[in-house]
Amino acid sequence: MVNNLMVNYTDQGADDAPVIIFIHGFPLNKTMWDKQLECLKERYRVIAYDIRGHGESDAGTDDFSMKLFANDLIAFMDMLNVEKATICALSMGGYIALNAMEHYPDRFEALVLADTTCKADTSVAKKKRMATIKNILEKGMLIFAANSVKNMFTPQSFITKENEISAVKQMIINISEESLGCTLLALAARKETCSKLPEIQVPVLILVGEEDKITPPEAAIYMHLRIENSIIHNIGNAAHLSNIENSDDFNTQLKSFLASVYKDYFDNKARMETSVLREIRNKVSMLLSFKSI
Ligand code: MLT
Repeated sequence: MVNNLMVNYTDQGADDAPVIIFIHGFPLNKTMWDKQLECLKERYRVIAYDIRGHGESDAGTDDFSMKLFANDLIAFMDMLNVEKATICALSMGGYIALNAMEHYPDRFEALVLADTTCKADTSVAKKKRMATIKNILEKGMLIFAANSVKNMFTPQSFITKENEISAVKQMIINISEESLGCTLLALAARKETCSKLPEIQVPVLILVGEEDKITPPEAAIYMHLRIENSIIHNIGNAAHLSNIENSDDFNTQLKSFLASVYKDYFDNKARMETSVLREIRNKVSMLLSFKSI
């Protein structure tokens, strides 16, 4: 339970390993991170959760906002006894992570911002969100899901990634109309976080699909120029859901970034393992020499 709500989450990897928490985009759920969890769970404790009202998490009765979602993230970390983590977040996940970074910077070890932006909605974008709510009520979820995936993937993927696209459609269809409407209102009302970017102290990796039209590469460059300790990488053959569309490149970038963030941790671990091994070897040879006397 987090803030009196049931939160659905996956928690894999060793308890004492560095913690990576994944925040999904709108209107998806934690399963969009399956390939990243699979790839990282040997070395890290990887946790993906459903944002309230999404996937199988409760929606509650509070008005949705990025601030509420950010508070949920921190309460979720408290519930898990996780003091600090690397947050890996895509699109709306990124809006939540940047809101949390503004209010709770000490809870971050590092940050991965994928296909997201620090900017608020323009008035045109806000109107579009209201029109989307109207359309969903009039035409239903199936049409909304079919239209949404057109913007999320490259045209090529409609030939090569049918399974991934139908999985995403299913995630969209599964969300309730009410949560969808409330989240659209929260997205439209969100504040910019660009002015806070220069205050970010932790290492940041910015990833963006080369063909992302929702949060395009220019939005990623804009953030990169304002975050001193950031690196940026364009994911080829990918649009908005770059972690699904080109998971190989996404995972390669993620692994190498995390290896640099946690270099001291892994160096120390290797040193300790070597010294434990040396101690065992010494004890065994001592025992053997006693036996031979
Ligand atoms: C997302 O993927 O989370 C959404 O595209 C975000 C948005 O609509 O601003």
